[in-house]
Amino acid sequence: MSNDLFTVPEDWRKNAWCDDARYQKMYEESVNDPDAFWTREAQRIDWFEPFSKVKNSSFNGDVDIKWFLDGKLNVAYNCLDRHLENRGDQTAIIFEGNEPGVEEKITYRQLYERVCRFSNVLKSCGVKKGDRVSIYLPMIPQLAVAMLACARIGAIHSIVFAGFSPDALANRITDAECTILITADEGLRGPKAIGLKEAADEAMDKAGMVKKCIVVKHTGADVPMKAGRDVWWHDLTAKESTECPPEHMDSEDPLFILYTSGSTGTPKGVLHTTGGYIVYTSLTHQYVFDYHDGDIYWCTADIGWVTGHSYIIYGPLANGAVTIMFEGIPNYPDFSRFWQICDKHQVNIFYTAPTVVRALMQQGDEPVKATSRKSVRLLGTVGEPINPEAWLWYYRVVGEERCPIVDTWWQTETGGIMITPLPGATDLKPGSATRPFFGIQPALIDKEGNQLDGPGEGYLVMLDSWPALARTVYGDHRRFKSTYFIQCPGTYFSGDGARRDEDGYYWITGRIDDVINVSGHRLGTAEIESSLVAHPAVSEAAVVGFPHDIKGQAIYAYVTLSSGFEPSEELRKELSLFVRKDIGPIATPEVLQFTDSLPKTRSGKIMRRILRKVACNELDNLGDTSTLADPAVVEALIKNRIDAC
Ligand code: WTA
Repeated sequence: MSNDLFTVPEDWRKNAWCDDARYQKMYEESVNDPDAFWTREAQRIDWFEPFSKVKNSSFNGDVDIKWFLDGKLNVAYNCLDRHLENRGDQTAIIFEGNEPGVEEKITYRQLYERVCRFSNVLKSCGVKKGDRVSIYLPMIPQLAVAMLACARIGAIHSIVFAGFSPDALANRITDAECTILITADEGLRGPKAIGLKEAADEAMDKAGMVKKCIVVKHTGADVPMKAGRDVWWHDLTAKESTECPPEHMDSEDPLFILYTSGSTGTPKGVLHTTGGYIVYTSLTHQYVFDYHDGDIYWCTADIGWVTGHSYIIYGPLANGAVTIMFEGIPNYPDFSRFWQICDKHQVNIFYTAPTVVRALMQQGDEPVKATSRKSVRLLGTVGEPINPEAWLWYYRVVGEERCPIVDTWWQTETGGIMITPLPGATDLKPGSATRPFFGIQPALIDKEGNQLDGPGEGYLVMLDSWPALARTVYGDHRRFKSTYFIQCPGTYFSGDGARRDEDGYYWITGRIDDVINVSGHRLGTAEIESSLVAHPAVSEAAVVGFPHDIKGQAIYAYVTLSSGFEPSEELRKELSLFVRKDIGPIATPEVLQFTDSLPKTRSGKIMRRILRKVACNELDNLGDTSTLADPAVVEALIKNRIDAC
């Protein structure tokens, strides 16, 4: 926590879309008269047919959420076609490749043509409105083209982060019943090439249902192509026309599915729909980043995560922005890369994750100071709490005390930014996401389910719906209801804890469930545990998070072995690798402790609280251990604990 207050600079107050008085006025209208507010704000989008009602939503009963009812529109049309007249020759996407020197500027007209062409490809592959298309691509322009082409013809994309394993991809293909997969020969991450087609082949063997695999030739690596199933992107697109009429979609037709981890079970396919999502991502992109025409905007996320969906592609392109897509990593060829890119493309708005800020901070100020960064006027963060030390470094060293920082809190399920400063309106406190965006009504709930008034700490919930809220979990509405709407009936339960201070500012304290946030990526402990127990040597596993200087949190796994297996350094490595291969590198346990048994209650429930304390080295504060079946287990755990904090 920090008590510092950074007031809004005068030029920001004057020139931004929104100063504090305007924020207050708009916020009040948005919650007191949502019909008037959203009817007006929805005009930022072009509708083929107007909506008849702003919203019809209930967090009770069957949880039915609808926005902009009966409206007809197309997201790709809003991101492309409508810009052609006035900004056809303006850059839409700046692609910055993994290798410095590799770049491409794509205008709105070129992007429109590529998207139409690829829409025709999808159609000729038999893809129809409502069909699901799986996309497993690196951060290259074809990824943007593929998403927008799906949106154009009304297909539902399901993008799988290219760092996920073949198994993870296979599970997502199966769950969403995708018969088309779009991938590339290889992806590039710094000095490494990642065999995406190879991984996709393995996934397709497992998932079975994929009939067509469209492959982008990116690095030119020699990859096997299965006759009848695998086809090259460039062969298919060459023959197609650059015109393709956009499908007229209903506001509530699905736009995409994106998988995210929860506290239990396999990742959930969070489903977002059309009208509300595009209105909300466009509105937040304009106000949170104070986007003005001509600004160069860069969000460093991967499009495999929701941040990339909403704030590299949909929000910015709906606003006719210039958005950067970067294929590489922050430390290749060296730790100045991000700032070099800022200078090269004259970036004005820069949005990244706290884990990146911490990793760069650890390298000292020199790699930053070696660059100018004079073009940058606004900084942003997302994905996890930012510690004040990292905030202050970002503010002082990167932004040279001239750039406000917008610390944006939101989730895959919320579709867009929920709690955030507005740079011309909000005085900043390092570490606080500050105040709710228009239309957002956060509340804090205590353990008994009572809503807190004034300052306090509790579970963060939302009292009413907003346009970009997810509508369901694909194929499992019951799971949607039970994950988000039963803990505190009548509200959306975020799974995060938060504190509200005397100024009404929110401070997110982190997940209150069994979700670990590793470098801003959500992982369910249950997922990692089930991966570990799939190994023949493992009898039981329990996974918890512990604080990590750079990653925010890291994974601590406790493992009991099956009979016939002995703990060894080799087995430890093997198990780590096993999880890495099963889920992906981000799920690799940082620490793996062998133990003869796990602490359990007499009814056999694992006491995670104790495991968490041991992992975090909070040994003098283990809490109540009287319900343990065998108290001796804890002593053994402590004796063998591995220090990684
Ligand atoms: C965490 C990412 C603190 C939070 C957009 C949330 C944050 C989870 C912040 C969602 C922030 C995200 N401050 N915590 N500014 N932003 N989180 O679904 O725990 O990948 O529940 O969406 O990240 O992660 P997700």
